[in-house]
Amino acid sequence: MKLFVDTGDIEEVRLAAEWGVIDGVTTNPTLIAKSGKGFKETVLKICELMPGGDISAEVVATDYESMVKEALEIASWHEQIVVKVPLIEPGIRLVKFLSDKGIRTNVTLVFSVSQALLAAKAGATYISNFVGRVDDISDDGMVAVADTVRMVHEYGFESEVLAASIRHPLHVVKAVEAGAHVSTMPFKILQMLFKHPLTDSGLQRFLEDWNKAGLTIG
Ligand code: G3P
Repeated sequence: MKLFVDTGDIEEVRLAAEWGVIDGVTTNPTLIAKSGKGFKETVLKICELMPGGDISAEVVATDYESMVKEALEIASWHEQIVVKVPLIEPGIRLVKFLSDKGIRTNVTLVFSVSQALLAAKAGATYISNFVGRVDDISDDGMVAVADTVRMVHEYGFESEVLAASIRHPLHVVKAVEAGAHVSTMPFKILQMLFKHPLTDSGLQRFLEDWNKAGLTIG
């Protein structure tokens, strides 16, 4: 499974990149607005901090002609960029247009298998299926992820299913069980993936025993 960090915060990208296990970054208009910096400047800095990673940057227009213009502009900034497109009618048309040109896309705001089917048929590179926002309204957001993974395999679509709107480590575990190709999550959730109380107590005990015995390495 690929792991992406969902952020517009350069410092978080820098720290996540140091681990060497993060495959990319997803941003959205809200995250970019929160960063307090310019869109292009932020996205290019993220590309620089995570060489080789897939960096999703989203169009904000909602009519086809303007979406095409924005998508081509964004895609021209850097080869690592994946153009993020909302699942609306002109969005699907745009994904087909970009996919025919070999430009990678991430279809966002996907909540159902029927929406995911349209994204897959248009040639989306990633289908961002939101989990937490569905859980927020008392439904099980992971069901559509699992069903979409099954659909992609069953019909041989090339799209990868990206579990987005991840709110806690159990979402990541469930995304693994569902066979999602990617999970994207806030930096603080990535940090939580490291945590286990038995790791902390176990390490403390190892170090105490080592120090008590007066050992050294080499
Ligand atoms: O970037 C898309 C998605 O991960 C947003 O998550 O927490 O705002 O629902 P959230």
